[in-house]
Amino acid sequence: MINGAIQLHGKLEHTNLMKEKKQTAIETLETTVDWRLGNLRGPNIQRSRKLLKDLTGVYPQHASSGLTSDTEVYSVQWWAPAEEGQEGGLFWGVTHLHAGRVGNEYFMTHGHFHALPTRAEYYTAVSGRGILLRMERSGRTWAEEMTPGTLLYIDGRHAHRVVNVGNEPLVFWACWPSDAGYDYGTIARDGFGLRVLERDGKAVLVPVVKEEHVEHID
Ligand SMILES: [Fe+2]
Repeated sequence: MINGAIQLHGKLEHTNLMKEKKQTAIETLETTVDWRLGNLRGPNIQRSRKLLKDLTGVYPQHASSGLTSDTEVYSVQWWAPAEEGQEGGLFWGVTHLHAGRVGNEYFMTHGHFHALPTRAEYYTAVSGRGILLRMERSGRTWAEEMTPGTLLYIDGRHAHRVVNVGNEPLVFWACWPSDAGYDYGTIARDGFGLRVLERDGKAVLVPVVKEEHVEHID
């Protein structure tokens, strides 16, 4: 037993020496951000684009807008060093939300609740001018300004949608837990409690009046 312990001790010492050797070299990390342009570089950067045809559910007036269905509304790049759904990991991404309108309604993201309401998220804008719509499950909705430098902490219980109310792309970074998940269905069915419309060159918040369910009894 004594010999075995000595051998084990010897192995551990050897392992520690190897670690020390490794730690003396400064590693050049491959993943970098371009803050100003809103760009991610490195391996395993994922990308997605949302075209108008992907958002017809949130723009009921899309058919008469004069825009083609292939119009890009926004694009997202993100780094996922953890697995989707993995507890304890973080994702890091950037969204370019273009300036434009569908009729009199500004370009916006689809918006979602997190599948896990205990998972919060950060947004911070670097260029452009926008509005963050936040909504509780009850439907109560409010709006917060997004301009370069604003840092927004989004409670995991709040649905979030970003609207570009400016004349240039709205670029914002986000950090969210890898197991936050997405509930798009609730937004697709119920929408948000506010819409952001252009009136006389200004953005106005318009409450959405939901039709009440009326039962007819013959
Ligand atoms: Fe989110």
